[in-house]
Amino acid sequence: MIIGVLRESRPGEARVAATPATVVELVKLGYEVVVEPGAGLAASFSDEAYVEAGAVIGEATAADIVFAIDPPVERLDGLSRGATLIGMLNPRLDPGLVEDLSRRPITALAMDAVPRISRAQSLDVLSSMANIAGYRAVVEAAHVFGRFFTGQVTAAGKVPPAKVLVAGAGVAGLAAIGTAGSLGAIVRATDPRPEVADQVRSLGGEYLAVEAADVEVSATGYAKEMSDDYNRRAARLYAEQATEVDIIITTALVPGRPAPRLITAEMVASMKPGSVIVDMAAANGGNVEGTVPGEAVVTDNGVTIIGYTDLAGRLPAQASQLYGTNLVNLMKLMTPDRDGRLVLDFEDAVQRSMTVVRDGELTWPPPPVPVSAAPPPTPTDSSSTTTEARPHEKRPVPARRSALVGVGAVALFLIVALSPAALRGHLTVFALAIVIGYYVIGHVHHALHTPLMSVTNAISGIIVVGALLQLGHGGNVVTALSFVAILVAAVNVFGGFAVTRRMLAMFSRS
Ligand code: NAI
Repeated sequence: MIIGVLRESRPGEARVAATPATVVELVKLGYEVVVEPGAGLAASFSDEAYVEAGAVIGEATAADIVFAIDPPVERLDGLSRGATLIGMLNPRLDPGLVEDLSRRPITALAMDAVPRISRAQSLDVLSSMANIAGYRAVVEAAHVFGRFFTGQVTAAGKVPPAKVLVAGAGVAGLAAIGTAGSLGAIVRATDPRPEVADQVRSLGGEYLAVEAADVEVSATGYAKEMSDDYNRRAARLYAEQATEVDIIITTALVPGRPAPRLITAEMVASMKPGSVIVDMAAANGGNVEGTVPGEAVVTDNGVTIIGYTDLAGRLPAQASQLYGTNLVNLMKLMTPDRDGRLVLDFEDAVQRSMTVVRDGELTWPPPPVPVSAAPPPTPTDSSSTTTEARPHEKRPVPARRSALVGVGAVALFLIVALSPAALRGHLTVFALAIVIGYYVIGHVHHALHTPLMSVTNAISGIIVVGALLQLGHGGNVVTALSFVAILVAAVNVFGGFAVTRRMLAMFSRS
């Protein structure tokens, strides 16, 4: 079958649905690929690069499978009978297009209708685009903001770090938190789904909890609309933060609903001159009062509100690559025999969910798919009114454990008391090492074990040397104990090295 890659026609759209790298993958799956002349130019992919990758340059509308970013509304008449159109068709919000498509003898698959289940992550264009957009939102804010993000102490004086508030910690929000943090800003974030608190913290941000009764533990992968009580409390938090922070990035979204209004005109007016707001939800009505979709406006008090709706497209090469890879992954799913023949399997929930029209028959909306649920919350006191993660409660020490410790202590005392004088000293040191080792390592949080290892390695080293000196100098018992000490200390030392190396590799940027 032939895959046609359209040259996008929407003004300002710089992305393309396939890159030379993804063409190679499509050819490997057995497809022929036709790319329209100049389709990738705005994303820095030349026609020659496509040809080198194995594509042919030519007209693509009549292909068996047509790849697009935006719906090619003006070119639908050119599609062949039985063709499959794949693009961001936005069927939830564009019923007119859905109806138009259903009147044609084609199959239409909406990349933006892929369900949010783990298995479909590799096809999820909304996530891959939101990830890029979150990054770009910070870059846009940094471009307008008149200061460094990072704090500095220079000969000319001290520069405080910028403070960034991210509202909504979904895919775009988390990307924005990571980016702003890596530029050195102090980042805070809030979201009604308390399970994101750990993700925010793991990116170096501070999670601001809204204390309300209806905070949501997501069972759907998406948020729901929040109650008036939640919104009132959230508004207090935003009002407080607006006077403090320099940059606000809003990403709040409830699928199928207009964007929740989070930041009012009064909050904007309370911000410092020079502050920046990026309203990522501008296309859905905006989270911020005063946003103009597609534009950056400056308020009377000198706050810039950026409402760009093409943030992902502002990094067109990267966005095209990720979108193209999402399409390749879809093709892998739909080409079970790797023979260049597309097979639409309606038994598969992912393929079913994204099919808007099948062979001219309207199949939208699809049946709901139970999507990735967050792990269920641990049952908590129902009277609780806070989203704040609870500190780990100390579990009561079971009586059996205390009894064991007591028995162990008595046994040790008896052994030391009854053993020969030569062994007594060693046993005392051994017992001390066990007790100290237990407290030094056992009571430290797992995340801190690595720096601790450097110190405990030194202690282990001392143990190894001491034990080596004892080898062969005492009786069999001393030798056996020395051997065990060396073994255990060596495990500690080498284990420490292994863990350290793994952790360092996690932070390396190569
Ligand atoms: P997502 O569904 O992953 O995240 C949205 C987050 O908003 C969720 O974590 C949700 O819990 C949170 N939320 C819902 N109601 C809230 C409330 N009342 N207060 C605070 N948070 C609330 O969505 P994703 O993919 O991160 O997209 C975020 C937004 O960015 C969407 O509006 C999307 O359309 C937009 N977007 C904009 C682009 C642009 O160029 N401007 C490009 C890509 C995405």
